[in-house]
Amino acid sequence: MVKMNEMKHDYKIAVYPGSFDPVTFGHLDIIHRAANVFDKVIVAVLNNSRKNPLFTVEERTQLLQEVTRGVPNVEVDSFGDLLINYVAEKKAHVIVKGLRAVSDFEYEMQMASLNHKLNDKVETFFMMTSPQYSYLSSSIVKEIARYHGPVSDLVPLEVEAALRIKYTEDR
Ligand code: PNS
Repeated sequence: MVKMNEMKHDYKIAVYPGSFDPVTFGHLDIIHRAANVFDKVIVAVLNNSRKNPLFTVEERTQLLQEVTRGVPNVEVDSFGDLLINYVAEKKAHVIVKGLRAVSDFEYEMQMASLNHKLNDKVETFFMMTSPQYSYLSSSIVKEIARYHGPVSDLVPLEVEAALRIKYTEDR
């Protein structure tokens, strides 16, 4: 039988995975709050060619590094594997996810259950996105930026500049 204290981890590493195409204030809110709870937070960018992202994995990673520079216990990395394998490889025991609304719940619950089935030593922790960002998504940001609308309330300056360059190239 596993004793309770054998299951405890002194140094708590959490992985916050996502596409981050691009990172928004909603993501940053979760990153800052998770960094207050865990010893280390690894923001893991999915290398997802199938999703046809606007920004390359290198661009998404670099933007995340720029906007999290001030948070010492946050590390940015990318992965192209099954999330649960990546989490084990990093010796982390927690996956952090943000929940914006009830509409996120069903899919996230399915992912959390599947991940727990694949590795029951890893727990998924959900954080409620702060209400002021509950409507926010990378897709919405891209939609507004594509038509040259204002995104300064939605993303950091670095991301706003990167979006402007992407969508000016299109013109
Ligand atoms: O920001 P997103 O696109 O909602 O993030 C989705 C992400 C990266 C968390 C999810 O697609 C994922 O974990 N992908 C890695 C592949 C994997 O492990 N899939 C099975 C999950 S049960």
